[in-house]
Amino acid sequence: MTTIRQLTVQGLTHLMEGGQSTMGLDDEARGILREWMLSARRGVTATAPAPAPPQVQQQTAPAPTPVSENTAAPVQMSVEEKLAFLQQRAANLKAVRVLGTLRSTMVFATGNPHARLMLVGEAPGYDEERLGEPFVGRAGQKLNQILKAAGLPRESVYISNICKFRPDMGPEQGMSNRAPSDAEIAACLPIILAEIRAIQPTCIICLGGTSAKGLLGSASSVASLRGRWFDCQGVPVRVTYHPSYLLRNESMQAKRAVWEDFLAVMEKLQLNITPRQRSFFLPA
Ligand code: URA
Repeated sequence: MTTIRQLTVQGLTHLMEGGQSTMGLDDEARGILREWMLSARRGVTATAPAPAPPQVQQQTAPAPTPVSENTAAPVQMSVEEKLAFLQQRAANLKAVRVLGTLRSTMVFATGNPHARLMLVGEAPGYDEERLGEPFVGRAGQKLNQILKAAGLPRESVYISNICKFRPDMGPEQGMSNRAPSDAEIAACLPIILAEIRAIQPTCIICLGGTSAKGLLGSASSVASLRGRWFDCQGVPVRVTYHPSYLLRNESMQAKRAVWEDFLAVMEKLQLNITPRQRSFFLPA
């Protein structure tokens, strides 16, 4: 028997295939659609399973599963061409349009398409949306400092976000930002996964828990995910605190924790690490 849900999906798919990308919905309809989408995703397996740390059991949030979108860039394309292709795909992501909870300005990525290190944050904020580049606000300045200390200039790495659009908070949003929801992460996930396949970095750093949730499918805390290697599509992944955490917590302990994550990454990249670098943020 055809359910109302199936009929609605068929109807929406028909409209999207006919070129319609937006639709006015009242709060009730939006709530019902969101609930359907979340429950559908709960039944599907994530593509990048993470080793399950004990803390996973404490977390009940379902890991986002990518929403099916065609992000397969033709194999003969150069990395630059693949990224341009993905940028175009991201601008027209059907799953994002259907959600209607992300703002319309896209902030794609920045840096070196041939980078060995890829850094993945959560979503653009006020500054990033204004300037059209990831990590250009206060968190970005903090990130630049860390990269400089590691001998990795910002231009030498590739910096992107799980979510390519600033999460919407309504007409009173002003400069406020919010973390993307599971549904928003899932809607954008096919793009970042395709960026990873295009760039094929030696390793990835997840900046914060939202990034880890997207790439590793784990809703565990950053504290419990730090200190070991994970895998995303064959690429080693390290999880560290988001730079904005260091803006809120200026303790030596917090700085050292992030620095140790970067030292592990520098080792993975076989960079020369000086004794001075090794001792940053250690107690005197
Ligand atoms: N925080 C993020 O996670 N990404 C940005 O681009 C900016 C701030």
